[in-house]
Formats: sequence, C-alpha cells, structure tokens
Amino acid sequence: MSRMQRGTSVKAQAKRNPQIAVLDGDPAILDYLNEILADRYAVSLFSDAAKFNQSLRETPAPDLLLLDWNIVENDSEENALGLLSRVRASKPTLPVIMFACSAELKEVVAATQMGAADVILKPFRKSDIDAALEQYLRESDKKTPEADVEEIPLNENTSFVRTCKRMREIESQCALVARADIPVLILGESGTGKEVAAMLIHKLSARSQRSFLKVNCAAMPADLLESELFGYEQGAFTGAVKSKPGKFEICNNGTILLDEVAEMPTVLQAKLLQVLQDGSFSRLGSRTSVKVDVRVIAATNVDIKAAIAQKIFREDLYYRLNGFTLKMPPLRERTEEIPVLSKHFMRKVAAKYECDPLPISPVLLQALTSYRWPGNLRELENTIKRYLVLADEQAIIDELHPWQRNGAASPSAEGSENDRSLKHLVKNLKGGAEAAAIAQSLEVSGWNRKVAANDLQISYKALLYKIKQYNLTPPPRKHQVSIEKAPGLDRAQSA
Ligand SMILES: Nc1ncnc2c1ncn2[C@@H]1O[C@H](COP(=O)(O)OP(=O)(O)OP(=O)(O)O)[C@@H](O)[C@H]1O
Ligand SMILES: [Mg+2]
Repeated sequence: MSRMQRGTSVKAQAKRNPQIAVLDGDPAILDYLNEILADRYAVSLFSDAAKFNQSLRETPAPDLLLLDWNIVENDSEENALGLLSRVRASKPTLPVIMFACSAELKEVVAATQMGAADVILKPFRKSDIDAALEQYLRESDKKTPEADVEEIPLNENTSFVRTCKRMREIESQCALVARADIPVLILGESGTGKEVAAMLIHKLSARSQRSFLKVNCAAMPADLLESELFGYEQGAFTGAVKSKPGKFEICNNGTILLDEVAEMPTVLQAKLLQVLQDGSFSRLGSRTSVKVDVRVIAATNVDIKAAIAQKIFREDLYYRLNGFTLKMPPLRERTEEIPVLSKHFMRKVAAKYECDPLPISPVLLQALTSYRWPGNLRELENTIKRYLVLADEQAIIDELHPWQRNGAASPSAEGSENDRSLKHLVKNLKGGAEAAAIAQSLEVSGWNRKVAANDLQISYKALLYKIKQYNLTPPPRKHQVSIEKAPGLDRAQSA
C-alpha cells in the first residue's frame, strides 16, 4: 500500500531541508503528505504515537510537527491533547499544527489554548499545507534557541525553570512518573518548588486537561479538612444546609496535591488510605460510597520517617503515597541556577506590576549567590520583588549580608560549610570586584564593548566571556514602578 516505511525517516533530498514530522493514523494521508512535501522537506511519517514519542526522545526534534486530532497512543490511550501537552513541555519551540474535522472544532480550541500553532481542517488542499508550513517554519526560524530552554510554562503565573543537571534530572523524573499515573511523594524544604513540580507532573500527564487542585492538610482542623476533601451531605453537621462535594469528587480524573501531608490528622489518614487503595470514600453524613479516579501527589517539608517513628504518620499510608519519591534540592545546592531564576522572577514580578524589569548587577548577583536562602526559591522571589519596589540594590545587599556593611566578609559565603576557607572568601571578593569594574567600564562606554575592552586592557573576546560569566546586562531604557500597582508589597511579605 504505502511507498514508505512507517515510523522511519524518509531520506531528505538535501540535508539542510527543514524536518517535518507527521503523526496521523490514516495511511492515505501519510502517502499524500509525503508526495507533496518530500521534494522540499525531510519528512518523517508516523502512524503510531509510541514510535513518534520514541523518535522524539532519541533523535533531534523536527522543525515542525503535523499532528492528527484522532491519534491515540495504543498502550496508554493517550489522546492528541495529552501528546500535544507533552511535546509542548519537552520541546517548547517546536511548532505543532493539528489536523481536525470540522465536527471536532470545540476540542480543537482546547488544542490552540494549549499551544498548538494552528489547526488545519480536513479535508485539506496542498495550498493549505504549503501556507501553514511556510508561515510557521519562518516564525520558528526567528526564535533564538536559548529563548525557551530554561523554562516550561505551567499556567499564566507559574513556570518550571531549570538549568542545572540536578533539576534536569528532576524534570525527567517528573515526565517519567507523569506517564505512570502512580502516587508521588514530593519531599523538600519549604519554598523549593514542590508545588511547581506537582504542577509539572500534572501537565505532563494524560490528565493534563482535567483539574489540578491543591489542599493544604495543615491549614485546618480535622473535621473541616474532612469535609473539604470528601464533601458532606445535607444535615451532616450543624450548618450543613445543603450537600457539597469534596475536592476528591471535584477533581475526578484529575490530580490532587495534598500539601503538608505529614500534618494530616491521623483520623483522616485512614480515609485517605482507603481512597488510595480503591478510589472509594463516603461523604460526611453518608453511608453510600463514592468512587473516583484521582491521581494523588503528596508533599511535605518535614522528616516523614521521623513522623512515622513518632506515630504521627501511618506507615502504611507512607508506602501507599510513596509510589515514587521526588526530592527537591534546596537552592543553596543549586546556586548555579540563581542568575537564571533571579532574571525569571524579575520578569515575572515586573510583568505583574506592569513596570520595566531592573537589571541585576554583578555585585547584586554576587550577593544573591553567596546567600544561603533558608526560604529557598520563595525567598529569592520575594527578595527580587523587594528590589523591584525599592529600586535600591544596596539595601538588598545589606539585607542579605548585613555583616558586609563594614567591609567584613560573610561568615557563610556561598556553597557548603567547607567553603568558608580564606581562599574561597578571597575568590568571592575578587570575582565581585572584577565584575564591578567591568560593569562600570561598560556603563561609562555606553555598553560599547570594544571601548570597554580597551579601557580594561583585556581582549574583546575575554570581555565577552566575562560579560557572560557575570551575567551582565545593559540597563533598561526606562524604569517606572508604581507602588500603587503593587499593594501589600512590603517587607512583611518577605520570607
Ligand atoms: N523551578 C522553578 N521555576 C520557577 N519558579 C519556581 C520554581 N520552583 C519554585 N518556584 C517558585 O517559587 C515559589 C515557591 O515554590 P512552591 O510553592 O512550589 O514551593 P513549595 O516547596 O511547595 O513550598 P512550601 O513548602 O512552602 O509549600 C513559587 O512562587 C514558585 O512559583
Ligand atoms: Mg507548597
């Protein structure tokens, strides 16, 4: 029937032709697309989602993907939307064009909301395909490769930013467990990004189109938490004037995050165990059992083994929750991410308060990277927020390192306890001074790098390297912060 081998790349005529991947279960469509595209593009044809996923993992990503709405992954029943969300998460720059029939328009809107570049209605003509490929290949050409590599958008306000090896591993683990649909226990200090990791797992899972809900198990007394999680019937208690479903029911087919799970009252732990075992529970005041299909992710910042030893937390529940454990590293163990995270938070906060971002100077960056961040990423985010509002770099540096005001070095300079050596402190101070001198020279020369290199008596190449090393950026053209637009932004918000 078909002239090409499914799931394998059809040789491109010229090596530099743009790579187009097509995933469609209809062999006639694959034949037709190969016929009209193979003379200009390197076309890879897939009738099977699993083979496409494998190719995406093992070979360089194509320049564009044509994806049929009706494709289903055989083993997992994952649909095109699930596939789209995973492709968007792992290859955010890859433009995806969906094929759909007019009857599927409602669903297709969801696809565009999830980041599909365009939708082509079936039956299509050669000119429809040509026009779309030309437009999206041209647009993706303009994107800088580094623009997307550092963050995965999760919702309007939250992204998963990662650059270091350890966090890339966390990302791979999230992607892995997302597919397995097992309970996940996320451990880590406060503010390390446990909730963000839970959102990423949800986004990468086949449940991504369903709800993601968070319940803080430490925030309320046992009976309130029980009604919050499992709902209640009318008359179940004084004030229960009408029945109400709980979060588990509302979240059916979705993902629930049980935050601070180790602080869940023990009476409720048994009920949760039951839900994890067979998905069933009953609302307060009801004898009938409700069945749900909810993926449970639990998070805690306490030592859960100690909680088990103290009989505060049920051991059997721990084993049920712990289908997979994810350990979020504290920020002080991934200081190499601080420059990228600081810029990310600056962009995020500036967008929220509708003002221009402030530059993060090498001196400030040095202060940020050598602080120990007990409140982790949340504390860093709050610090950047304060910097944007105060627009006073020195105030932030003094806050982070009060002992340096008089010129003394920090007793807890960056890195581990072992890094307190004199050699390390000198290295830090030297780096800060060098960065400050370069920044000053760039400022004086109006960011003319040749002039600055000359002024500093280093080569142009060495200057470019140091600009990158110290993450120096030119100042923005204008900066105006309206404090009225940022209500409640004060020191009380700091971690
Ligand atoms: N990898 C990340 N990329 C970008 N922002 C992040 C990342 N991790 C965390 N954040 C941001 O840092 C803040 C704290 O993250 P989050 O709420 O997920 O931490 P947590 O571990 O759940 O904290 P807690 O233990 O206090 O509940 C949030 O504003 C979040 O958006
Ligand atoms: Mg949290």
